[in-house]
Amino acid sequence: MGEKIQTIAMIGAGFMGIQIASRAAVHGFSVRMFDVNTDILKAAADGVKNYNDMHFQTNEGDPEKAMALVTYHEDLADALKGADLAIEAIPEELDLKKKVFAELDKLAGPDTILATNSSSIPISKIEGAVTRKDKVMNIHFYIPIPRIYAVDLMRGSETSDDTFNKVDQWVRDINCMPLIVKKECMGFVLNRLWRSIKKDALKIWAGGHADIECVDRGWMIFTGMPLGPFGAMDYVGLDVVYDIEMSYYKDSGDKDDKPPQALKDMVDRGELGVKTGRGFYDWSNPPFFSPDFLDPKKK
Ligand SMILES: NC(=O)c1ccc[n+]([C@@H]2O[C@H](COP(=O)([O-])OP(=O)(O)OC[C@H]3O[C@@H](n4cnc5c(N)ncnc54)[C@H](O)[C@@H]3O)[C@@H](O)[C@H]2O)c1
Repeated sequence: MGEKIQTIAMIGAGFMGIQIASRAAVHGFSVRMFDVNTDILKAAADGVKNYNDMHFQTNEGDPEKAMALVTYHEDLADALKGADLAIEAIPEELDLKKKVFAELDKLAGPDTILATNSSSIPISKIEGAVTRKDKVMNIHFYIPIPRIYAVDLMRGSETSDDTFNKVDQWVRDINCMPLIVKKECMGFVLNRLWRSIKKDALKIWAGGHADIECVDRGWMIFTGMPLGPFGAMDYVGLDVVYDIEMSYYKDSGDKDDKPPQALKDMVDRGELGVKTGRGFYDWSNPPFFSPDFLDPKKK
């Protein structure tokens, strides 16, 4: 195996980019962030600070040092300088990801590993856009990254052992647990399980079979989790959920996989979840951290 991964280029400074960058910096890695939207890039520093504050509640790392390790770049080639690993966290659209991978392939150094944080798209569908097929793979994180430390790892058709082992080691170095996909799988490991729950939760709601609160309460009581599927989707972002579900649908062509129109209507109305203050729930008065939500006498 060659040198260890030391410097990360984070492509996309949105919800996931901020959290991945933060986790890497907390564990001592230099992170060079890029986003096509300069306003988002400027706002990313505040996001990194907020997530770093969350990390430090778990007593990992040093906040001041971590903040200093993240730099912000308006030029993609600049962001890629010296990067051992570039992680893409841009919207869940196959054509866009292919276009960006082609740019990364052209601009990054010859040894840079290119990875996607896609929630559903196997790297084998993107790898045709690059010449370095041995240096690409899926690295899929879960939110909230400071707390959920599982990460799916999946190879493309030509990913080398050297690439895979370096990334596996890096994931362990940021104190995450790699979940290794042995044979290509739409949705990886944990996310595939989450997908089947999400798909049926949406069907129960869109078919008018039960209210979202009922589904979430059942789930939370059964699993002991602090969120049910609808609360979790509100955190992910309903635009992102819709794109992910469409990605599964496009892959299978099975009508049963098509996300409900009611979800698309919410996205079109701008009801995207926590980030817009309204999704399945009203986030101006979040129900999840109130014990009342699970008290039968109060409902
Ligand atoms: N939201 C989640 O819970 C979650 C969890 C795991 C994985 N993911 C995956 O991570 C990816 C990003 O999701 P997100 O929730 O961070 O989305 P987001 O919308 O918050 O962020 C995407 C960012 O990409 C930027 N962008 C768009 N085109 C770009 C380009 N050509 N170059 C650089 N930046 C570009 C946008 O300006 C935006 O800031 C998606 O593939 C999603 O499926 C999301």
